Amino acid sequence: MSNESLANLLKEERRFAPPADLAAAANVTADAYAQAASDRLGFWAEQARRLSWAVEPTETLDWSTPPFAKWFKDGKLNVAYNCVDRHVEAGNGDRVAIHFEGEPGDSRSITYAELQREVAQAANALVELGVEKGDRVAVYMPMIPETVVAMLACARLGAPHSVVFGGFSADALATRIADADARVVITSDGGYRRGKPSALKPAVDEAADRSDQVRKVLVVRRTGQEVAWNDERDVWWHDIVGRQADTHTPEAHDAEHPLFILYTSGTTGKPKGILHTTGGYLTQVAYTHHAVFDLKPETDVFWCTADVGWVTGHSYIVYGPLANGATQVLYEGTPDTPHQGRWWETIAKYGVTIFYTAPTAIRACMKWGDDIPAKFDLSSLRVLGSVGEPINPEAWMWYRKHIGADAVPIVDTWWQTETGAIMISPLPGVTETKPGSAQVPLPGIAATVVDDDANEVPNGSGGYLVLTEPWPSMLRTIWGDDERYKDTYWSRFEGKYFAGDGAKKDEDGDIWLLGRVDDVMLVSGHNISTTEVESALVSHPKVAEAAVVGATDPQTTQAIVAFVILRGGASEDDGLVEELRAHVAKALGPIAKPKRIMPVAELPKTRSGKIMRRLLRDVAENRTLGDVTTLTDSAVMDLIQAKLPAAG
Ligand code: WT7
Repeated sequence: MSNESLANLLKEERRFAPPADLAAAANVTADAYAQAASDRLGFWAEQARRLSWAVEPTETLDWSTPPFAKWFKDGKLNVAYNCVDRHVEAGNGDRVAIHFEGEPGDSRSITYAELQREVAQAANALVELGVEKGDRVAVYMPMIPETVVAMLACARLGAPHSVVFGGFSADALATRIADADARVVITSDGGYRRGKPSALKPAVDEAADRSDQVRKVLVVRRTGQEVAWNDERDVWWHDIVGRQADTHTPEAHDAEHPLFILYTSGTTGKPKGILHTTGGYLTQVAYTHHAVFDLKPETDVFWCTADVGWVTGHSYIVYGPLANGATQVLYEGTPDTPHQGRWWETIAKYGVTIFYTAPTAIRACMKWGDDIPAKFDLSSLRVLGSVGEPINPEAWMWYRKHIGADAVPIVDTWWQTETGAIMISPLPGVTETKPGSAQVPLPGIAATVVDDDANEVPNGSGGYLVLTEPWPSMLRTIWGDDERYKDTYWSRFEGKYFAGDGAKKDEDGDIWLLGRVDDVMLVSGHNISTTEVESALVSHPKVAEAAVVGATDPQTTQAIVAFVILRGGASEDDGLVEELRAHVAKALGPIAKPKRIMPVAELPKTRSGKIMRRLLRDVAENRTLGDVTTLTDSAVMDLIQAKLPAAG
């Protein structure tokens, strides 16, 4: 990528100052940046004091063998004690930890005191099943309270969990069980999705049958659906957990004791088991949840819509909010069951004040129409968050206007499974926000944009996002593969962490994320980001969603091919494609004008909501489709291909 690559094509001039009342009472103010800059390690040592340590650390960071970091290494603590017991001891046992909202409409509010008893019982049950400190436990669950309880029980024992998203196949589960050598699997009969029970246990049965290491499968009854039963291996949660003592003495684990493994699918090869450890991880998730969401635990109701199977669920459903003693909503199902206003109804029901979701969901809500959120009272909201991919400025504006009453600040949070916690984000009481930009590294975080030769680019230029200093919640390695850890993240630029994302710095030095570097197109010698062309398309009133790829082209190296979903009501008449091409040319310049634009009904997405551009590239280049196993719905690709009889 050249220095003028990923040039600042899109001009976004809108600015939104933080609301004065929020700013006046904000948890974190502008001095945090200066304080952290003058003494970064001192800053993190101070943040570590948010936690209760059984043995206080005296050393903040050991970076003597980079890229292998040890944070707070002589400290000891128990994560579950920090997330549960200490709040009860502080007199907050009656505070609701989790408002659980089941998809069929059942609900249950669990206080910190109740959570403490359930976690203790689950920990005792795991001990009875033979789980010891250091053993890996696989968790394959729907979005129910027992999932959180199971994760905390593992953390309490020092048995690293490996949560596998419930939408993954038996195959994917089996590979992950094998890689982590998990001996115990925690699952349920199923969970509710889209109005019906969706089975989980059959995939576990298949994976466990194929493995010779799985000894026990602990099964929560959620839906009551039929399950096959293996008397040697299977144990009902209600049989074993309910009869355990409801107290359990937590052991203090080393700060660097493994807390969990979470697999992320690389672009090639087998999934990477990202390893997170105890003290640094909990410090940064607690701090960022406090700072970025301005959490006031006595009064706020937090809701992160991610699945616990993703890192967002680990850090901002389980560990961050609970470490901070927050009250939060846990919702089992899909946003459109039984109607497209389910999320907004839930916000009104619990008085949610802080809401954290993904751009893909925001765009789906845009497509369903403005009138849907308008029917609900969303006035409790005071902070809105976004995560998972770059948020198009128009989706950002819609979120602010239709969910945030044109007043609520939006925090666009950039981070990764590997970073463990939020790294780049506005602070809601400090930052003047810009639609579409994650803007600034948080206090204590060092991030920048470099060119091919690792030189920091000047403002107004683009390149690669890198992290230039270690951070407390960084991955420690790839499970079982230190070499791959070094190669993947630390070899592209000497001494810097390579995130794999393209980014640019605007004239103010604010950071704009441009998508994965594999998603940058080369058109007649110019590097153009798929994200920017997509944002330009989505800024047209008739477009709800867009996916852009570069297809090999004899004249221009790559040609821009766009797939668009039209907004409800818009029709695909003759002039529309030309109108959209002209619209992009006007927004970004003629070089970014798509060669072809195809209206489609759906886009291929991974189960975490990311567009699979690789498959669209296959379509655009008339190739047989690559691996579609991680798609939410593989029929989508048939529909798209059927639309393109003579592509090319
Ligand atoms: C990749 C990491 C972090 C939790 C969910 C995803 C993209 C994430 C943003 C954002 C632009 C973003 C990046 C990143 N991404 N947040 N706010 N703006 N891009 O975790 O599955 O590990 O994916 O998601 O490309 O590298 P993940």
